[in-house]
Amino acid sequence: MAAVRSEPPRPEAPSRRLAGGSPPEAGASVDPSCQELGAAELARVLGTSEEPVLLDVREPDEVATWSIPRILNIPLGELADRWRELPDDRTVVVICASGQRSWRATRFLRSMGRDARNLAGGMAAWGRVYDTASFEAGGATVIQVRRRAKGCLSYVVAAGDEAFVVDPSVEVEVYTRLGSALGWRITRVFDTHLHADHLSGARELSARTGASLHLNPADHFEFDYLPLADGESFPLPGGAEMSVAVLHTPGHTEGSTIYFVGPDAMLSGDTLFVDGVGRPDLAERAEEFARSLHSSLHEKVLVLDDSVQVLPAHYGESVDVLPDVPVGASLGELRTALPPLALSREGFVEWACSRVIDKPPHYVEIIKTNMGRSAISPEAVHRLEAGPNRCSA
Ligand SMILES: [Fe+2]
Repeated sequence: MAAVRSEPPRPEAPSRRLAGGSPPEAGASVDPSCQELGAAELARVLGTSEEPVLLDVREPDEVATWSIPRILNIPLGELADRWRELPDDRTVVVICASGQRSWRATRFLRSMGRDARNLAGGMAAWGRVYDTASFEAGGATVIQVRRRAKGCLSYVVAAGDEAFVVDPSVEVEVYTRLGSALGWRITRVFDTHLHADHLSGARELSARTGASLHLNPADHFEFDYLPLADGESFPLPGGAEMSVAVLHTPGHTEGSTIYFVGPDAMLSGDTLFVDGVGRPDLAERAEEFARSLHSSLHEKVLVLDDSVQVLPAHYGESVDVLPDVPVGASLGELRTALPPLALSREGFVEWACSRVIDKPPHYVEIIKTNMGRSAISPEAVHRLEAGPNRCSA
């Protein structure tokens, strides 16, 4: 997959062949001839029996960089010739970068008698959609916060009136709103590692809420935080206990850390996913890191009971995300689903180092920002955050 371009979404060129006109201004009443669907509503129906046909009318090079799973790609300029390729038994949701090309395509399809809706705001709006799924673990309520477009997962772990947040995204209002709505004070913030594929919201969330910030010093951070110590545990009110049972699972990064919520729920960060393991090559020392990752997996993770639930920090395109169902799997399920877990150390190193995929877009800039070495403007956040996660081997 090619790297995401660093420039903002391309201007929406009007099609010569399709109906023209201007998309409605923000806040204007919706044109009934061009019905819209909100990005959050799309997230609610993906993977269910209500899933619409997803028609992406961007150019193939744009689609290759970042898209919603299971789309059909017919560029706007080809739609007049190819619209009959669309299945005719379901609603069509039309997608582009910002909702303008798709607005024209939607008008065209509706004029052809098809039930078509424009994805309001396009991929830019899709990139800001979060949903949640909750479960109980170790006497605490755990909310998995899913950033659907990037496949990023973060966690709110709460009991009584307190909550801890693990791996918050850069849009920290997601967590402050959740805390306010559910009557929780955010008292501690953690990251599982120095992220390379998205901006961490940990420092900002800590600053806004007064929560303490806990990080593994084996990753390099150039700002104040509380260094995690092996075996440290952090109690929540009412007996629930979140504990850093395994401090150091190096491999994806040197400071990769797993957090346990009670004995049975493991927030595995980018060490172990439901569809893979953390890639070891982001620090340009792939072989060394792959050896560390094999040791971490075999000496600290795979020795645990099959019933332990693995709740990762990311998921890939092959993972279906369903409403209200946490993305996760038991360790027993992953032992059989992920053959690389059974490889010898040398076999694993060879396998991991041979799986060279594009680095996450802008990863050097993102790492520097997450380390605290460089600041970014609010305008740059959108550019750095565009594109999928690529932390899995
Ligand atoms: Fe990562």
